[in-house]
Amino acid sequence: PLVTTTEMFKKAYNGGYAIGAFNVNNMEIVQGITEAAGELKSPVILQVSKGARAYANHTYLVKLVEAAVIENPEIPIALHLDHGDSFELCKSCIDGGFTSVMIDASSKPFEENIELTKKVVEYAHAHGVVVEAELGTLAGIEDEVVVEAGHESYTRPEEVEEFVDKTGCDSLAIAIGTSHGAYKFTADQCTRNEDGILVPPPLRFDVLEECAKRLPGFPIVLHGSSSVPQEFVKMVNQYGGNMPDAVGIPEEQLRKAAEMAVCKINIDSDIRLAMTGNIRKYFAEHPDHFDPRQYLKPARQAVKDMVAHKIVHVLGSNDKI
Ligand code: G3H
Ligand code: 13P
Ligand code: ZN
Repeated sequence: PLVTTTEMFKKAYNGGYAIGAFNVNNMEIVQGITEAAGELKSPVILQVSKGARAYANHTYLVKLVEAAVIENPEIPIALHLDHGDSFELCKSCIDGGFTSVMIDASSKPFEENIELTKKVVEYAHAHGVVVEAELGTLAGIEDEVVVEAGHESYTRPEEVEEFVDKTGCDSLAIAIGTSHGAYKFTADQCTRNEDGILVPPPLRFDVLEECAKRLPGFPIVLHGSSSVPQEFVKMVNQYGGNMPDAVGIPEEQLRKAAEMAVCKINIDSDIRLAMTGNIRKYFAEHPDHFDPRQYLKPARQAVKDMVAHKIVHVLGSNDKI
């Protein structure tokens, strides 16, 4: 069924695992994610960004997700607005069938963040919808906001209690060194391994622990948590693409976060890479094919395989329905 994240997060917190929140933009992505979650009996969050809504249209996305709910009746599915940037956008999603929204006022001053988040929480809770908020800023690109690497700021643990108390939000995204997109770190922030691949600086688990201590039992969210699998980067580069130094968050660090207070882990870039790598490969190997079903089929399968891997080896959310 289409559900809120309340029950999912409670079980994930107590069970030491996390729920995957995957960004959806079209039918193949919705199908790939939910087929994997359905087969593995994993709860899942499908999230829609402002950009996704502008691309595919609100109604198409809601109806695709409703179709996934019908096709996968066993698993809990939540429909979430990713990075809502205004009360109006959040309201429109709440009125239009979403079960969860994020109000991301993390780039605003603390008091303004509280004020806007509180307004969204009041409206959302009156309509049975839950709210994710954010404190601290990640590096990388989300919609039109670009934060240069080195200009991000970690969440300040001393602010989290007051923020959650005053806003009444249901979950909190924090900044502990993750980053949006496929280029999460600059070369000078990293070292290189023997294969010449960038090794990013470790996540700030001390900040996570400090936040979790001040918010006992409260679900924490990690954005920017793609691992940018090098198999996909290689595939892209081998078949005509050019993505030098694309690097993500190592899986073992995400696994550790999932065992702690982190209940929701956001993944978008890995979906894009899985699809693009496989479509490039397909085009290179079948230059005469022109039926979109021919190249979207392996792309959808790649999304499904990637999500299945995350569920079992990173999130630990399999067999949790
Ligand atoms: O955090 C951002 C998500 O990856 C969504 O990206 O705004 O390009 O749809 P988008
Ligand atoms: P990635 O770019 O690491 O996939 O992060 C996605 C995200 O945080 C969506 O809100
Ligand atoms: Zn994000």
